[in-house]
Amino acid sequence: MTKCIAFHSYKGGTGKTTLAGNFAAVLAKLGFRVCLLDLDVYAPSLQSYFMIEPKKWINDYLYSEADIGDVMQDLTPKVSEIDMESREMQSDSSRGAKDNVKGKLWVGFSNAKKEEIYKLEGGADTTRKQFLRRFILLREQLITNYDADYIVIDTSPGIRYWSINALAVADILFLTLKAGDLDIEGTKKMAEEIYSSFTKFGTKSFLLLNRVSGYCAPSPLIVKPEMTTSNRSGPSTFIIETPEDTDEVLAREVRMTIMSSIPCYCDIQFLRKEFLTALKYPAHPFAKKIENLTLSLSQTAGQL
Ligand SMILES: Nc1ncnc2c1ncn2[C@@H]1O[C@H](COP(=O)(O)OP(=O)(O)OP(=O)(O)O)[C@@H](O)[C@H]1O
Ligand SMILES: [Mg+2]
Repeated sequence: MTKCIAFHSYKGGTGKTTLAGNFAAVLAKLGFRVCLLDLDVYAPSLQSYFMIEPKKWINDYLYSEADIGDVMQDLTPKVSEIDMESREMQSDSSRGAKDNVKGKLWVGFSNAKKEEIYKLEGGADTTRKQFLRRFILLREQLITNYDADYIVIDTSPGIRYWSINALAVADILFLTLKAGDLDIEGTKKMAEEIYSSFTKFGTKSFLLLNRVSGYCAPSPLIVKPEMTTSNRSGPSTFIIETPEDTDEVLAREVRMTIMSSIPCYCDIQFLRKEFLTALKYPAHPFAKKIENLTLSLSQTAGQL
């Protein structure tokens, strides 16, 4: 049965688009039929991530001006190309094999033109109702026409209209946080006020902690003043301590389980623009975590 997964966050820039793109591509490589949707309609970025010019946009579909077949672009060849390049680099034993990608990846893009964004943002109640009907139909058609195993949705941060629509159609919510830039209070409030209304109807929600230190960046340190016996009136030296385990604090405060802590790949990012890193560098800790995430997810999805 199709499972719909939304990548969401309270703050912007936590890695939703990057994680959704890599996650969808790895699922396709592993043999699943995957539909990836750019529902970050206020600031779409999947198109620049995949660098393609789609025939039609999700926006056209919502206005009933395009069919699903014109909106969903088959990017399986792109996934295969990156996978083959990576095997060439590693002189993998399967090198020379024609195609190692067993599944499919289709992507639906949102239009980043500002007039298109304004059009979707505004609109009378009747237009909004029509959008919502079309959005639900989109999900239905991905299930029936594409026989999708997974629908992966990249959303806008916060609690705007289209983020809520995306969360409402999802079976699993990944609330993404960026290590070092956590807003625990805001995230906690959003989880309590918004996520709980979905989880009480059976939706599962998990935390994804992105860009954690340890692989390429040192663990965060807390510098504490130390009182000495010779100087009780003030600190004379400083001791350095590692803070309480961030994962534990987060999970406790937000009352959600952490499904994965994903490392930073800034060693790669400094070389060039990140693009499907999990396929390009399969031995990298980032790729390993994304692959593990797909495994944890298929276990969770099996229990739903
Ligand atoms: N694990 C990671 N290691 C290093 N860089 C990362 C990692 N994840 C994401 N990034 C980088 O962080 C930046 C923001 O990521 P991304 O655009 O995916 O975030 P986002 O949550 O989709 O942002 P927005 O809310 O604006 O849509 C990008 O430059 C991306 O390459
Ligand atoms: Mg994004």
